[in-house]
Amino acid sequence: MTTVPVTLPPVSFDPARGVAELRTPGSLYALRLDADGSPRHLYWGPPIDPAALDALAAPRSPADSSFEAWAAADELAPQTGARFGPAGLQVRFADGTRGAQWGPAEPRVTGDGLRILLTDRHFPLTAELCYRVRPDGDVVERWTELHHTGSPGDGPITVDRLDSASWTLPPLPDYRIGHLVGGWNSEFQLRRERLPVAETVLTGRRGLTGHHASPWLALDDGTATEEHGEVWSTALAWSGSWRITVHRDPVGRTTWTGGFGHEGIGWTLRPGERLTTPVFAGLYTRGGFGAASRAWHDHVRAHVLPDAASDRPVVYNSWEATHFDVSHPGQLRLAERAAALGAELFVLDDGWFGARRDDRAGLGDWTPRPAAFPDGLRPFAEQVHRLGMAFGLWVEPEMVNRDSDLYRAHPDWVVHSPTRTASELRNQLVLDFSRPEVEAWALDTLDRLVRDNDVDWLKWDANRPFTEAGRPGQDDPDRLWIDHVRAVHRIMDRLRDAHPHLRIEACAGGGGRVDLGILARTDQTWPSDNTDPVDRIAIQHGYGQLLPAATMASWITDSPNPATGRSTPLRFRAHVAMAGVLGLGGDLTAWTEDELAECADLVARYKRIRPLVQHGRQHRPPTPDGVTAVHYAAPDDTEHAVLVWRPTTRFGHQPPPLRLPALDPRAHYLDLDTGRPHPGALLHHRGLDLHLPPGDYASRLVHLRREPS
Ligand code: DGJ
Repeated sequence: MTTVPVTLPPVSFDPARGVAELRTPGSLYALRLDADGSPRHLYWGPPIDPAALDALAAPRSPADSSFEAWAAADELAPQTGARFGPAGLQVRFADGTRGAQWGPAEPRVTGDGLRILLTDRHFPLTAELCYRVRPDGDVVERWTELHHTGSPGDGPITVDRLDSASWTLPPLPDYRIGHLVGGWNSEFQLRRERLPVAETVLTGRRGLTGHHASPWLALDDGTATEEHGEVWSTALAWSGSWRITVHRDPVGRTTWTGGFGHEGIGWTLRPGERLTTPVFAGLYTRGGFGAASRAWHDHVRAHVLPDAASDRPVVYNSWEATHFDVSHPGQLRLAERAAALGAELFVLDDGWFGARRDDRAGLGDWTPRPAAFPDGLRPFAEQVHRLGMAFGLWVEPEMVNRDSDLYRAHPDWVVHSPTRTASELRNQLVLDFSRPEVEAWALDTLDRLVRDNDVDWLKWDANRPFTEAGRPGQDDPDRLWIDHVRAVHRIMDRLRDAHPHLRIEACAGGGGRVDLGILARTDQTWPSDNTDPVDRIAIQHGYGQLLPAATMASWITDSPNPATGRSTPLRFRAHVAMAGVLGLGGDLTAWTEDELAECADLVARYKRIRPLVQHGRQHRPPTPDGVTAVHYAAPDDTEHAVLVWRPTTRFGHQPPPLRLPALDPRAHYLDLDTGRPHPGALLHHRGLDLHLPPGDYASRLVHLRREPS
């Protein structure tokens, strides 16, 4: 590899070579502007110097009519020329012409960013490809801004597809894709599989990000491991329908293009109008999947989350304890027990409002149910505050039951096509937040709820996807797929602006809306309704590929678990939940004094390792089959927390020592619980003897402090 002069700017464009470079501390992303006006991908990998870049393929000459001349990958492929892969930009003009064809590109360097303005040769359309890098990480953020530059007489332009960005890998001997699949109660299952020579579509068509797939992927050559190898990964910051198409072509090139909207969802761009995509961020890393995750975690904390620095509180949430059977005295009993266990936030979940006694009624009527809270919510909020906890409230603002005052007053507010039956799911319909009056109602309702009841925290839920969505009879019936999501984002932003102390948890029937877009205005997510600790290990493993533990709520709940019926010891449940933002969620009134005492002790232990879990760096140490471990390291190496879980025992299979490669082999570490000193070299190279107790559901928390040298 060539040595790279340290003086190179983070973003540059050299007109003589037609080459733009985006340099991050550990990577280089480069593209080339060809004479036909199209920005073509040049390079994405470890930093190399500009001269080395020039040895890559020569620019395409417009006079060259060979097929090969079109081989270079586009930064965003329009539908013209000899391009037959998935097009990131698909437009139709008023006269029926399909596809943009660009004149000379106009690049502009803007400090940490690059913008390439592309202007159609004939029609009043521009597309600006936007790039941004940061000095503290290797993530390249990309998005596209489309602009109808014409006047009213020009007629609209139909946008069939507008992706945020297209990405290209260097040629590799083979390709493997890592992605997340799942369903309700089984979100974030990590799959790594050989990429077929085909177009592989990852998509969500539900109006929400979705439980079944996540807009994140990681590609490697099939040999990367947790600790070694090159990984290219991308994540889309969008909380609605989305599509990413990965194209491995028969000649061995792999590109992928992605953005908001699923197939068939278009946009009519009116004269003067702009359409801006969400950010699609990309990351190149060496150092395997672990390094890729840590780089994403750092990026999310530094540049996505609104308030990454503060500690996430230990929550108690009443859902699994009471479901809809909510009453002031009942919730207070739980709040008193939760406070005694060390909870710092009490969240009153579903069932507190309207006529909500089950899931058939009340959604939309955000006033306290008189039978449950005869004096309103405020006295309860005050009691929660007096117990030393913040007060949180569950809401599902985008949804309505037919049996509600809101629906009776505004049946036309729901997402529906008048001639189609509006399918109910969980007995509810989706409110159309793309309508300004509905957005205004939601903002006003939530604002008042927070203000009137001293609410510190909202758990914002969304329990069903869109169906029969559209605005038939209007000139752009599909807009709501995008405008609804923008309205959700906007309301969250405005609520935070109006109530700077307010924190928001994103939930959608568990992990149905988890993405970088929602995390830019929320503090954490509820990754799954499945609180079984064994299932949760896999869910949390998948979740952590992209997102840091400080965004991942995880509760200790009752045993047997309500979802799986599995009985597990309290300690095991707690150790699994401690790997994220610890919470409590069971019926504490049914717990024995011993259980309560043990739980209080476990919560106190969590608080001691909280800075490491929530603000440290996460490592996933190598473990034998049947054992999983996660290691959180203080950025300055002063303290470490290691959590180990072995759900099932096997006679004669005591796990080998747990190697902790992230520890400094030159240092010494003290086990703060046993008082035992450990040479770092032993922990790093040989491993920590786990001494797991016999039996199923064995677990350990090891808290180490680096000894002064
Ligand atoms: C789904 C959420 O994921 C649960 O935690 C709970 O809030 C229920 N909705 C309430 O209806």
